[in-house]
Amino acid sequence: MSKEIPETMRAAVLRDPEIGLQVETIRTPHPNDGEVLIKVTACGMCHSDLHVIGGKIAFPLPAVLGHEVTGEIVEIGPNTEHFNFAVGQHVSGAFLMPCGQCEFCAAGRDDLCAPFFDLNRLKGQLYDGHTRLFGVDGEPIAMYSMGALAEYCVIPATSIAVLEHGMDLTASAILGCAALTGYGAVRRGANLHYGETVAVVATGGIGSNIIQVAKAFGAAQIIAIDVADEKLQAAKELGATHTINSTQEDVRTAVFEITHGRGVDVAFEALGRPETWTSALDALRDGGRMVPIGLGAGVQTAAVEINRTVRRSQSILGSYGARTRQDLPVVVKMAAAGKIDYQHIVTQKFALEDAGKGYSLLAQGKIQGRAVVEMSL
Ligand SMILES: NC(=O)c1ccc[n+]([C@@H]2O[C@H](COP(=O)([O-])OP(=O)(O)OC[C@H]3O[C@@H](n4cnc5c(N)ncnc54)[C@H](O)[C@@H]3O)[C@@H](O)[C@H]2O)c1
Ligand SMILES: [Zn+2]
Ligand SMILES: [Zn+2]
Repeated sequence: MSKEIPETMRAAVLRDPEIGLQVETIRTPHPNDGEVLIKVTACGMCHSDLHVIGGKIAFPLPAVLGHEVTGEIVEIGPNTEHFNFAVGQHVSGAFLMPCGQCEFCAAGRDDLCAPFFDLNRLKGQLYDGHTRLFGVDGEPIAMYSMGALAEYCVIPATSIAVLEHGMDLTASAILGCAALTGYGAVRRGANLHYGETVAVVATGGIGSNIIQVAKAFGAAQIIAIDVADEKLQAAKELGATHTINSTQEDVRTAVFEITHGRGVDVAFEALGRPETWTSALDALRDGGRMVPIGLGAGVQTAAVEINRTVRRSQSILGSYGARTRQDLPVVVKMAAAGKIDYQHIVTQKFALEDAGKGYSLLAQGKIQGRAVVEMSL
């Protein structure tokens, strides 16, 4: 164990959705087999955390949230030699942390990793069935992914990628969820082909990245659909060719006008509400693919027009994260090459103490692009 790692650290702990995040001093975690310890530089603030903070998606409490992380490797656990990581490397950590052992992982489908869902998403644990986080008195604290709203976090070595030299370590925090999920939706969910047309419904943190990745993959038209004009303006700067404010225009009419009566090949849905599903399905051409990425608030259903879907051979292809081990290194390369403008997307930075304030602005729709918590603030 390295000497400069302190015994305790600050972390934003959620004990009660009524109270929200509170910064506490807890024990600094240490990595077990197959894991590394990261000194956190920054953690992105994602809408998925909001579902848990607001109590709408059940998660064991107390918990440390935060699943979009960058930082420096400070300690490496046993049985990690073939990853070739070294203390001091700057890395991005993905929210979707593959166990590397289950049948889905064996098939390369990190996005379906069974222990990730069963142990981490449901119980807040890592894959030995324990959390790495404890209060100073030994109380176990659940981990939502790696629990990155803290000064240090433990993450499976399967779930990090080394950043390229010169990358902005704070802004890179958005790579491990917003950009990875955007990449997964375009590359895996839609399997987008050069020259296809797309619509992106909801252009927040995730939608902004879908736009950029779709552009990089050669989408011919990218129609951004949102309820806020400033988000639509930002979407244009990131590569949207057209914008529709769905509070002012009928989505289907406007999309069919833009696409000369055809509809789009792929409609991405990045909010998870019944009305955004409707917008995405309404934008589709015959034979089109609708790719939902937004998570609902708890058990949520959306209406699908049965006959149109059937007769027009339309597909609905859910997409969760991406294949971390294959895709996170590509996302890092795309960011380093300027194909994903990760720096432009980060519009606000908060101190750990102000994380609660940042999430409440996010809940009010007041964050453009992505906000991050920066540990040095
Ligand atoms: N599938 C995955 O792997 C995955 C990963 C991360 C996040 N998510 C989910 O994706 C969703 C988006 O997350 P985010 O961090 O980008 O959220 P965000 O809060 O940054 O963005 C939401 C956007 O939706 C817009 N909006 C609100 N109402 C709308 C409406 N009726 N029509 C169109 N746009 C509307 C807002 O103006 C904002 O731009 C959330 O549900 C989140 O839980 C899924
Ligand atoms: Zn997320
Ligand atoms: Zn697995």
